[in-house]
Amino acid sequence: MLDPKELRRVMGAFATGVTVVTTLDAAGKDCGLTANAVSSVSLTPPLLLVCVDKTSESHDAFRQSGVFAVNILSTEQEALSQCFAKSDTDKFAGVAVERTATGVALFPGSLASLDCRVVAAHDAGDHTIYVGSVETATTQAGEPLLYFGGRYARIKGS
Ligand SMILES: Cc1cc2nc3c(=O)[nH]c(=O)nc-3n(C[C@H](O)[C@H](O)[C@H](O)COP(=O)(O)O)c2cc1C
Repeated sequence: MLDPKELRRVMGAFATGVTVVTTLDAAGKDCGLTANAVSSVSLTPPLLLVCVDKTSESHDAFRQSGVFAVNILSTEQEALSQCFAKSDTDKFAGVAVERTATGVALFPGSLASLDCRVVAAHDAGDHTIYVGSVETATTQAGEPLLYFGGRYARIKGS
């Protein structure tokens, strides 16, 4: 079987954007994680997916709350990405947030924000693929934060 570290290294050749996906736990508390395994799935109906590690603290919250938001990060938000890539910390301490209609945290300054309702959860190895129906989606100008070869990157010149 392919070594997981090798698969991660090879998939690092696939340059992606970086998101923080936010949701609410069973007590209604904010939680979320940095994620680049995010993809558009369907335009009609509007669907996207995020793959969440089953060992992630936020994993069950997607199913419990049934809602999540995808914050597509700009180059100005690398610190936010680093913060949400750690478990066992108060990630939201001192972080300014706005709220979706369903109460999920959104980060002002994100390049795009998509407010989703969970419509399916597919078991996929050590991850769950959460499919969200996109209820609202907004964008604003800025430069994207990228991830490539296990490092943050920027479009040359930005
Ligand atoms: C650039 C980047 C992309 C990541 N993408 C994902 C992802 O798509 N899915 C995932 O489950 N974890 C991903 N992670 C790891 C999580 O952010 C990390 O495990 C985090 O600590 C989970 O937080 P939690 O345990 O509080 O839920 C990524 C980390 C980085 C730095």
